[in-house]
Amino acid sequence: MTQISLTINGTQREIDVEPRRSLVDYLRDDGRLTGTHIGCEHGVCGACTVLIDGAPARSCITYAVACESAEIITLEGLEDDPVISELRTAFHEHHALQCGYCTPGMLISAYDIVTRLPHADENRLRLELSGNLCRCTGYVGIISAINSVLEKHRAVPLTRAPTSEKLGPVGSHRSVPKSKSIKTHGRQTFPPRQQQPATQTQQNDLSGEDWEAVDAQGVELLQSFEVRYSRTTVWRLFENLEEVAHCVPGALLTTTPVNGQAEGEVTIKLGPITSAFSGLVEIERDNENYSAIVRGVGRDPISASRARAIIAYQIHATEDEVSKVSVSVKFLLAGPFAQFSRSGLLRNVADHLTKKFAGNLEALLSGAKVADMADTLDAGKYVRSVLWGRILSFIRRLIGK
Ligand code: FES
Ligand code: FES
Repeated sequence: MTQISLTINGTQREIDVEPRRSLVDYLRDDGRLTGTHIGCEHGVCGACTVLIDGAPARSCITYAVACESAEIITLEGLEDDPVISELRTAFHEHHALQCGYCTPGMLISAYDIVTRLPHADENRLRLELSGNLCRCTGYVGIISAINSVLEKHRAVPLTRAPTSEKLGPVGSHRSVPKSKSIKTHGRQTFPPRQQQPATQTQQNDLSGEDWEAVDAQGVELLQSFEVRYSRTTVWRLFENLEEVAHCVPGALLTTTPVNGQAEGEVTIKLGPITSAFSGLVEIERDNENYSAIVRGVGRDPISASRARAIIAYQIHATEDEVSKVSVSVKFLLAGPFAQFSRSGLLRNVADHLTKKFAGNLEALLSGAKVADMADTLDAGKYVRSVLWGRILSFIRRLIGK
């Protein structure tokens, strides 16, 4: 068990939790705060959305232990809030709910939208709400309910009480624990996280980054693939960072590499959201072992998400002029995109990405043009395939097959 201190709906609590316990399970089972619903438990449907340090976050994919020093607000905590009261009335008047399963998450997201984006138009509203799924209403009533509250307050925008941080600690890693040591009664410890600059847009050096945190706390994905070319040929191609970047769907170098360092951009499409992370990469090559380490930091100003990654790869010679490339990726996501760092989803995306990368690499080695490689990473497609997998296995369980 791990002891942490956090605030839930204004009440300070010292709690003991299993390191693997999700925040939503803690809230519902121990805190008896059942207003937060559980839908997919996969970070996709948004039914479990709560506010963590003022930002909406998925409590099903947030570990309770990651909330040390955080301020959690569930729908129960907003019961007397005038903004949520207006939204509740609008939902009622615009028929914005049927079964009501998605409604707590919808209300929390709506609360965030009307207080954070008072001038949002309908397109922005739909975009902001795209992380909350409703299987009943067709969204028309929900959009018009939120829009009616926005319209009513165009002249004097709504505000809410300020919170301690702008982004939650989960993913943002900005929370500074009040107690420097977290007591653990088990084997795992969670050291205090480092504070990151709030509005960093571009950087020209990666030396100040906390790579140890990425190594220790990052999500790790291991992949390998084979290419029908010799190790020396593949290694030579890997020397050209620009060409390799073109083999990664959605990636592009925006400056010419100098001393193994370059600026770049990765575009990821997740449903209606397209995020462009731009930042810096640097590579350290080990010619003797045919291996390299790539470190990268990127930021998407629209979703206010930030990513840090360490990619280590090695090319192994196998028989018959076939090379095997093994890749380890460790990364930390911060901000709204962190909600999608559930390993099942990412593993699925990584599998597809690796296949696509290996195919592009072979095509490039066979003489294809670099321009033909450019493509966007449509992660939503892979997320949907995971969802379908889950729905099918649920149906199979239901009919006993
Ligand atoms: Fe958390 Fe669906 S239950 S996103
Ligand atoms: Fe039923 Fe939205 S009202 S899921």
